[in-house]
Amino acid sequence: MSGTKGLEGIVATESKISSIIDDKLTYVGYDIDDLTENCSFEEVVYLLWNLKLPNQEELASFKADLAKEMEVPQGIIDHLKSYDLSTVHPMAAVRTAVSMLGLYDNEADEMTEEANRRKALRLQAKISTIVTAFARIRKGQEPVAPKKDLNFAANFLYMLNGKEPEDIEEEAFNKALVLHADHELNASTFTSRVCVATLSDVYSGVTAAIGALKGPLHGGANERVMQMLSEIGTVDNAIPHIKEKFANKEKVMGMGHRVYENGDPRAKHLRDMSYQLTNITGETKWYDMSVKIEEFIKEEKGLPANVDFYSASVYHSLGIDHDLFTPIFAVSRISGWLAHILEQYSDNRLIRPRADYVGPDKQKFVPLSERS
Ligand SMILES: CC(C)(COP(=O)(O)OP(=O)(O)OC[C@H]1O[C@@H](n2cnc3c(N)ncnc32)[C@H](O)[C@@H]1OP(=O)(O)O)[C@@H](O)C(=O)NCCC(=O)NCCS
Repeated sequence: MSGTKGLEGIVATESKISSIIDDKLTYVGYDIDDLTENCSFEEVVYLLWNLKLPNQEELASFKADLAKEMEVPQGIIDHLKSYDLSTVHPMAAVRTAVSMLGLYDNEADEMTEEANRRKALRLQAKISTIVTAFARIRKGQEPVAPKKDLNFAANFLYMLNGKEPEDIEEEAFNKALVLHADHELNASTFTSRVCVATLSDVYSGVTAAIGALKGPLHGGANERVMQMLSEIGTVDNAIPHIKEKFANKEKVMGMGHRVYENGDPRAKHLRDMSYQLTNITGETKWYDMSVKIEEFIKEEKGLPANVDFYSASVYHSLGIDHDLFTPIFAVSRISGWLAHILEQYSDNRLIRPRADYVGPDKQKFVPLSERS
């Protein structure tokens, strides 16, 4: 037996949800460019879960169903309030709160397709409320209840800030949600599928996926991009800073991708939004710095910017705390996880690969009392 480190190039399942072929990303066969420019996030979630775009009536009813499920049990809010949130990373809080949601759902272990779809709806609706409640509670503010007539993107920003967003803010946030919704068999999605392939429940699958997304090589990169840009500080300092990183053999967050060779098709949309938003805030240096870094790394190493690179300056321009960037990734990607979880259940087989054993062989057993 021989292994492939990081399962690179291994096809582990069939899926009808999204594809990456020749650097082109599609959801259910629709080009990500068309969806980003034309769709609300709710339309995309519907698409991922039903493998068809909704008509107007279906969309209205889906939005109403989501709106009905946005409130979270008071016990979860009380639980969040019981921690010293100044030291808790929001991804840890969200992971725990999402897991707790299962304790309040008396259908948690009901495995019919209908029950799993109801849980998917609840999770998709409630995760926004959890992230924004956490963000407010740690600042000593009360959570803001969702407004049922707002779109998903606007509602998130409303619950976060206590005021409705400007149109451009809603547009940018909606685009970011659409772009992060699904991405074939990425690490967190694979995690969710491995988990539920044991016939564990939806809450366990999503909790496991949040854990995988938290890491800096996956969703955790976006927060670290902003940390890097803040450390760089000025446009002139950008290239010297990156050169120093290269000299220290450090990775540059937001750069490179396992699957894309020439470029991540999501990055250009976020680059455009970053340009527009930084011009509005007057802090164009974040955009200028990012472009310089992107061009330099492309030239030096042939590495493309990935989805996390420009999302950092987009979220920063929306006034969002940097450690909320990855939880926001989860607010969107949970739609993909849930689609994959439903797909996995629909034609399940336990996922159980093998390891190439490279440890010592034929060891002579020594009783405990005789071991040195
Ligand atoms: C995304 C990522 C994990 C893909 O990893 P991978 O396919 O396992 O690729 P590797 O880490 O093996 O990298 C291959 C080579 O490119 C280099 N490389 C990859 N990403 C790099 C980066 N962001 N900065 C600097 N060098 C990088 C590696 O050092 C390695 O070089 P070497 O062969 O000389 O040792 C990787 O590109 C990365 O760590 N990027 C930064 C984190 C990030 O933005 N993650 C979000 C992904 S959407």
